[in-house]
Amino acid sequence: MKKLSIAMLSMVLAGSMLLTGCGGGNNQAAGENDSADTQQSETAENTDGGVLRMGTNATFPPYEYVDENNEVAGIDADIAAAIAEKLGMELEITDMAFDSLIPALQSDTIDIVLAGMTVDPERAEQVNFTDSYATGVQVIIVPEGSDIASPDDLEGKNIGVQTGTTGDLYCTDDYGQEFVKQFDNGPLAVAALVNGQVDCVVIDNEPAKNYVAANQGLKILDTAYANEEYAAAIAKDNTELFEQVNAAIQELKEDGTIDSIIEKYIPAEGDSEDAAA
Ligand code: ARG
Repeated sequence: MKKLSIAMLSMVLAGSMLLTGCGGGNNQAAGENDSADTQQSETAENTDGGVLRMGTNATFPPYEYVDENNEVAGIDADIAAAIAEKLGMELEITDMAFDSLIPALQSDTIDIVLAGMTVDPERAEQVNFTDSYATGVQVIIVPEGSDIASPDDLEGKNIGVQTGTTGDLYCTDDYGQEFVKQFDNGPLAVAALVNGQVDCVVIDNEPAKNYVAANQGLKILDTAYANEEYAAAIAKDNTELFEQVNAAIQELKEDGTIDSIIEKYIPAEGDSEDAAA
């Protein structure tokens, strides 16, 4: 793990050099002290809350992907936009490597991560997780006709994962690092599966459905590998933003906004109730 975090750190240092220019957290510094001309005309109006800098890894449809206009779209982008609107902030999304996201929070390069990120105890030592807004399942993608039928068959197989994801962490723990092949993103892991470089890919179910639909000869096993909760992550010391975002997520859950965003991208099966019993 130590080796990993150093690698992550240097990636972020490199990344933050590219990304600076928008520095300065948004700690809502209300400028109470020493403002030369005390203009204080009613703050807290719309969009006075500054910029909400969100980080994500947009290779993960339908949660985040780059759309035909070259913009990051998907469930997380929509939820973040709804949160930003509630906070009167302007949303700015940065697409980066998944394993750079937590270091980017810690270095104040971004304010919030929405990336289909699973709440995990080790991560929770590094960042604060909001209430969960969605669930995920780690599934196993195999070629049709594979002899892998369940997680029990993964022993000794070459497993493709996206670096730093829970699929990576769990498989490394369960089957050993030498069997886990890391890729920068899910589509690259799946390409390696198609080319026969790995025997399976362990990844979240909704992106898995997208990847399988985009490639021939692959299937998702019925037996899930792990069930998970997705939440937004915020730096430990950014408690004010954390509370505001968490309150916004609660409201967006209660008023049905989050459900309808998810439903827009993942229509519930058997949604049409035409077929009377
Ligand atoms: N849920 C998994 C995790 O938290 C994978 C998330 C990958 N997300 C992404 N945007 N590529 O580790």
